[in-house]
Amino acid sequence: MQEQTPFNVEAFRDQFPILAEQYGVYLDSAATTLTPKAVIDAEVQYYATERATVGRSDYRAAINASQKIEAVRERLSHSLNKPSSSYLIFCPGATAALNIAAQALSWQPGDNIITTIVEHSSNFLPWLRLHKFGIEIRIARPDTGTQLNSNDILSLVDAHTRLIAVTHVSNVTGEELPIQEITAEAHRKGILCVVDGAQAFGHLSIDLTELDCDVYAASAHKAFGPTGIGFLALSGRALEQMDPPWVGGGMVNILEGLDYTIKSGVSGWEAGTPNVSGILGFGASLPIREIAVSPPAVLHTKKLVEQTIEGLNRFPEIQLLSSETSSSIITFSIKDQRPHRVSSFLDETAHIMLRAGLMCAIPLHQDIFARPHGSLRVSLAPYNTQDEINLFLQTLCSFSETYAKIFSFPRK
Ligand code: ALA
Repeated sequence: MQEQTPFNVEAFRDQFPILAEQYGVYLDSAATTLTPKAVIDAEVQYYATERATVGRSDYRAAINASQKIEAVRERLSHSLNKPSSSYLIFCPGATAALNIAAQALSWQPGDNIITTIVEHSSNFLPWLRLHKFGIEIRIARPDTGTQLNSNDILSLVDAHTRLIAVTHVSNVTGEELPIQEITAEAHRKGILCVVDGAQAFGHLSIDLTELDCDVYAASAHKAFGPTGIGFLALSGRALEQMDPPWVGGGMVNILEGLDYTIKSGVSGWEAGTPNVSGILGFGASLPIREIAVSPPAVLHTKKLVEQTIEGLNRFPEIQLLSSETSSSIITFSIKDQRPHRVSSFLDETAHIMLRAGLMCAIPLHQDIFARPHGSLRVSLAPYNTQDEINLFLQTLCSFSETYAKIFSFPRK
């Protein structure tokens, strides 16, 4: 087997100005990643020297801005290996993308939708909202333990199943779901498949041709891009059954009296002036994302996950809730401790930032983990280092010792 080039973590860190500012130990990249200089520069450049509208004016600055947006679409499509029959639509992020998908289909009474217990709110509430209009919602749960397999999901399919909506990677367990197995079976039965790629896009190489899903949704800000921008990839199959739910300027073909037709292609799906600076910043983040999903960077992050798990396993009062195979997420709880108290202690003591609480995955915490106050999550990106993990574990140890005196935890 060929030796892998070691990942140059210092060179990667150098791209993030905030890391030169003694910002602290940032362990919350599943919520949002830090921003590289190239992205900040791209947004500033647009506002400082290239400001113009897109897709609707003929002066050179507007043409230049429009061409730059199309170049970002092209590069993103290429890096996702998007099938030529599908559309890649810019939108404000994964939440908007999943809501657009839910509202773009015309639902029939009796239709059912399958989603799962591990979803975060953005791939759960858009479907629950449809339940109010008479659509049945079926929620797949793991047969045993906390990990879902394709059978847990596909066993709920019946003749009325119209759509399956699943996450690609759980934001709490870090588990990667077997999307290809699910889409292959769903398509045999004429069922559409929606994949929430919010947690996958910044960590995995994504091949939309291989995944063969009908909707793929993700946000740029979880993959080194700006906030407020993301994308929605719609398959040819999905497009046959969908109508753009957002209408407005830039997407109208003909408007006569009360009748209108919409433009063909992606323009029909992008009503209004888009987030131009966001798209350009997104474009500037793509080379950084490509480094982050490359095998050396993934291996680097995986080693940090192993270091974290090994350290946490030394605390008898800590229970791990995430999957051992997760590439970037470690979720845990501490016996008798409220997660928010622990995260405040870590921040106040050593400026360590991690997420605490329900992490928008309320059903998973309530029904599977039985932790109504949530859990704690360390989520990593390739800019994290072994020293940062050591500091986190040492600080947790001092929390544990501080509280051990009060709550008399047995020490190993
Ligand atoms: N943005 C949410 C998270 O932090 C879902 O996982």
